[in-house]
Amino acid sequence: MRAVTVLRMRSGDGQGAPSLAAADPRPPSHAGGSSCRGRHTADMNIFLDDPEFAEIILRAEQAIECGVFPERISQGSSGSYFAKDPKGKIIGVFKPKSEEPYGHLNPKWTKYFHKVCCPCCFGRGCLVPNQGYLSEAGAYLVDDKLGLGVVPKTKVVWLVSETFNYSAIDRAKSRGKKYALEKVPKVAKKFNRIGLPPKVGSFQLFVEGYKEADYWLRKFETDPLPENTRKEFQSQFERLVVLDYVIRNTDRGNDNWLVRYEKRHDGLDLSDKDSQWTVTKESTIKIAAIDNGLAFPFKHPDEWRAYPFHWAWLSQAKVPFSQETRDLVLPRISDMNFVQDLCEDLYELFKTDKGFDKATFENQMSVMRGQILNLTQALKDEKSPIQLVQMPRVIVERSSTGGQGRIVQLSNAFTQTFHSRKPFFSSW
Ligand SMILES: Nc1ncnc2c1ncn2[C@@H]1O[C@H](COP(=O)(O)OP(=O)(O)OP(=O)(O)O)[C@@H](O)[C@H]1O
Ligand SMILES: [Mg+2]
Repeated sequence: MRAVTVLRMRSGDGQGAPSLAAADPRPPSHAGGSSCRGRHTADMNIFLDDPEFAEIILRAEQAIECGVFPERISQGSSGSYFAKDPKGKIIGVFKPKSEEPYGHLNPKWTKYFHKVCCPCCFGRGCLVPNQGYLSEAGAYLVDDKLGLGVVPKTKVVWLVSETFNYSAIDRAKSRGKKYALEKVPKVAKKFNRIGLPPKVGSFQLFVEGYKEADYWLRKFETDPLPENTRKEFQSQFERLVVLDYVIRNTDRGNDNWLVRYEKRHDGLDLSDKDSQWTVTKESTIKIAAIDNGLAFPFKHPDEWRAYPFHWAWLSQAKVPFSQETRDLVLPRISDMNFVQDLCEDLYELFKTDKGFDKATFENQMSVMRGQILNLTQALKDEKSPIQLVQMPRVIVERSSTGGQGRIVQLSNAFTQTFHSRKPFFSSW
């Protein structure tokens, strides 16, 4: 049963209707093999506002050109790749759309069997299928806008590599065209593209020195952190909570966030030959929220048992949000203009997908605005993360006439409840 409360919002609080001129997500065609810069995907990866990121992508493309190919991450459930620079150093994690868990070229067979043998239970019913790469990039966008700094930079990128999973037809076409280019170069010039087709996906910067949170959480149980570092960890943890709650991440297990912990060490530094310095290095601790591909649901998950926020079981979740987090986040999320801006930025990102649907996007934003409303209240009331996840679920809809919005308060039942049994299908 659903208790529904509808509250009218003042006009002007509604979201402006963004234009529907969706960009064509298809890659521009390419004549010939390599471009003059030796990059197949040069004109697809343009990051004018972020030259540093552009440089990193250029290095990944150059590596591929000289045969240092992205390498599939063996442990993942989908086609995810470590992208490298020309020297073979890992610089990013690339997740192509077509190789997502339910993408048509997913290389992992277990997922395929799930789909074929158990179609009724297939996927997460609250998520837009096969848009995980947008969720990854969207999570970074939200993180960046809220100033959280826990998601490694993630953007939408095009890459082509023979180590990606391609259909037999794509590979045969590519071989045929290459053959034609060698034999009859004049005719082959007419081909739009020689080589395998570029893939669109999310590219997340690789962070070094991190281990899965699970590892460190166990360590900290037996070897507690010094007070300063504990506070720092708590603050980072709260940022992770804010991120996950806003984007309604359905996949935050303790393997999907990483921790880098550098222990303080006192003593003599002998690195300088001529002089000896006594150094006291402060401990540092940092969280990286990776694997954000299963967020931005278009409705609150019905199957609440399956998608809890796993961090809610940690002792850190019992502590009320710190003043620092409240000062950082509250001024932004309590400002309707900020929230509207955020929705518009996400619109610009999400509309680039060829399966983009405006109505579904509006529903995604209604859920997100509801989460933001709850978070605002929780921070004002100095609640803890546990109290936050126990709040009634809310959606904030934009009315069809444009100007007015309405708040729909969903049933209070089981937004997050603790249970000892492992949820059925929890690993999805
Ligand atoms: N940005 C990153 N920096 C460093 N290491 C990373 C990064 N992203 C992923 N990894 C490493 O790669 C592993 C797999 O990444 P991720 O979980 O994102 O992939 P996935 O294909 O979605 O896997 P799964 O479906 O099993 O969760 C992680 O457990 C982590 O060890
Ligand atoms: Mg993972």
